[in-house]
Amino acid sequence: RRLLTDAGRPARHEQCAGTFTGAAPLPIGMVAELTYRCPLRCGYCSNPVQIDPVSDELSTAEWIAVLDQARALGVLQVHFSGGEPVLRPDLADLVAHARALGMYTNLVTSGVGLSHGRLDRLGAAGIDHVQLSVQHAETPAADAIAGLRAHQKKIEAAGLIRQADLPLTINVVLHAANVDRLTDIAALAASLGAARLELAHTQYYGWGLRNRAALMPTTEQVRRSAIAAREVHERYGETMEIVYVEPDHYTGRPKPCMNGWGTRQFAVSPTGVVLPCLAAAQLPGPQPPSVRRDDLATIWHDAELFNRFRGTAWMPEPCRSCELRERDFGGCRCQAFQLTGDQTATDPACSLSPDHGLVAPAGPRRPLMIARRYR
Ligand code: SF4
Ligand code: FES
Repeated sequence: RRLLTDAGRPARHEQCAGTFTGAAPLPIGMVAELTYRCPLRCGYCSNPVQIDPVSDELSTAEWIAVLDQARALGVLQVHFSGGEPVLRPDLADLVAHARALGMYTNLVTSGVGLSHGRLDRLGAAGIDHVQLSVQHAETPAADAIAGLRAHQKKIEAAGLIRQADLPLTINVVLHAANVDRLTDIAALAASLGAARLELAHTQYYGWGLRNRAALMPTTEQVRRSAIAAREVHERYGETMEIVYVEPDHYTGRPKPCMNGWGTRQFAVSPTGVVLPCLAAAQLPGPQPPSVRRDDLATIWHDAELFNRFRGTAWMPEPCRSCELRERDFGGCRCQAFQLTGDQTATDPACSLSPDHGLVAPAGPRRPLMIARRYR
């Protein structure tokens, strides 16, 4: 198996929607953010810094209706995510319903709270795949990043997942405090029986954006991590698929965020807000759509937010005349807004952007990380 990098993954470019002609393509994936509650306090978390009260979360019946509407719209994959989705007592019921509709189900979890009994119920419900987050290869460092004694629970959860014969992906968010241990992290993932290892540099949204100065690795760290990613691929690539997501701040190439806006996937927040990407609620404009006001098909096809950046007609220069505009879609709208204040700007991660200087490498002094809170 060859090393997959975020910039080089053939699937992404092959999946690109091409020129938008007015009829929206149908989505294949839905990220169901069941709750933003989470026992961990990772400073790189991409969840919103301000969240709605737990009492406003969608009920089981509302999520069932969302799943029905998603399948009718064409969705084939549901990623049950959060926060920590295991905190929802109805998780197995939702998984069973998605499976009954014929959808592939993926659980994105910290592993904390994933007991033998919970995993049995999820297995009986038909969960297809589990993605487990790991913070570091060593317990003290991992627990320090998570803000909780979580690492040993994750190791136990990985064992339970493999005992249940479920495919396991280990996901690691890379940043200044763990990026130099990529080789040890890969060894841990291999020892846990992972079929896939995702090594993804931090995306700076939510708490991650607030902690950007503390999280951002140096240029030298990024250079070393790319070398280490190649080395671990040589060592483990026969038995474990390895995906290395490069940091767009350093490559000069923006990421094709969500494989194009309103093209392949959407996200539903714990309170039912429907978004083209996980961070789009921050973008100025009309109130974002919600499953509590409209059905998913109407939202996908007609909501202003979903049509705002579909296709290429909205693009300014240099994207408008760039030959890569249908490959990276001008980069990430949320990152453009966060860094420039203009959601229509070329993503500053692009070396052609007039704002590229805004993605300067980390400075020598790092502030302390602010731990994620629920509210
Ligand atoms: Fe992508 Fe725009 Fe940069 Fe071209 S100019 S590479 S389309 S972000
Ligand atoms: Fe919103 Fe990239 S996270 S477009």
